[in-house]
Amino acid sequence: MASASMSISVRSFAKINIGLKIGTRREDGFHELRTIYQTLRLADVIKVDVGRGVGIEIACKDCRVPLDESNTCFRMAERVLRAFKIRHRVRITIEKNLPVQGGLGAASSNAVATMLGLEKALKRELPPAERLRLAAEIGSDVPLFLVGGTVLGTGRGEEVYPLQDLPSFPCLLATRPVGVSTPAAFADWDNLVAAHKLTVANGSDKMSLFSQSVFEWLNGSSFSPTGVPGKSWDRAEAMLLDLVRTGIGNDFESVVFPKYPAIREVKRALERSDAKYVSLSGSGSTVYGLFADKHAVARAAKSLIDQGVPALTTVTLPRSLYWKEMFSRGQH
Ligand code: C5P
Repeated sequence: MASASMSISVRSFAKINIGLKIGTRREDGFHELRTIYQTLRLADVIKVDVGRGVGIEIACKDCRVPLDESNTCFRMAERVLRAFKIRHRVRITIEKNLPVQGGLGAASSNAVATMLGLEKALKRELPPAERLRLAAEIGSDVPLFLVGGTVLGTGRGEEVYPLQDLPSFPCLLATRPVGVSTPAAFADWDNLVAAHKLTVANGSDKMSLFSQSVFEWLNGSSFSPTGVPGKSWDRAEAMLLDLVRTGIGNDFESVVFPKYPAIREVKRALERSDAKYVSLSGSGSTVYGLFADKHAVARAAKSLIDQGVPALTTVTLPRSLYWKEMFSRGQH
């Protein structure tokens, strides 16, 4: 039984996709995909208050965030209470820092933060497999936030495997204020595939090509403890250049860019900066750039903001820091 009232704050980190290959549309309507998810330090804050009584209440100052049962935090809280077979009054306050519908997994991450915050407030834990099941029920890119760091996503994106962590890269996020609908982007992809008469075999070939590229990248010389330049930023730069060389990219770009040329322009602007690797995240609208040094990222952000493009800087967050910083107090 929880004490009369308990309040827990949880940092709800963003993610980017490093490469995303879309495969065939399955019978359940979802698409087979392969991606590398990478968590970022930039985060919303989810405050979970548990008290006597019943009912789930969501509070958020950002009017774009729904406060009803469609909110991912609401849906998660409902499931966690049901799994524990208990009734409580739960109030979830969302402090929004991450772009809404930006392809950064904010709503998905908020759901996992709710789950973990609620567990802590109730002083109870769900078994790992149950956590994963509930997360996958909420959405395809929710389970990755139960792993954190560098994560391989397969299936419809909900099958997640920890990869060896990448070092922490400076990262720039540029988000045009257009919300890209993920289901619409998948539908546009289906139309594109139909127009080009791509076959099912072609889809699975692409999947194995992605696996090979990732394998090649993660086993390349920039990752081996020998044969790498001494300075850490040289190593970071070598890894990013290897990433570009392996040609790992995001399939959504081929349907999102023609529909939203302003997003393609953001990618072009970032490519003119010192970013080593530039890509759309998920189905957008965020375009991110990975940098080898923090001065270059600050310069690029200033230049984009001067051009009227909303830009934020952060760093990629390895797994150990993801878990360490999730419940820690203070600024990061
Ligand atoms: O899993 P999630 O609820 O985030 O998915 C939202 C929608 O995006 C799905 O209903 C489906 O239309 C589409 N989707 C898909 N294939 C995936 C993931 C999502 O077609 N792998």
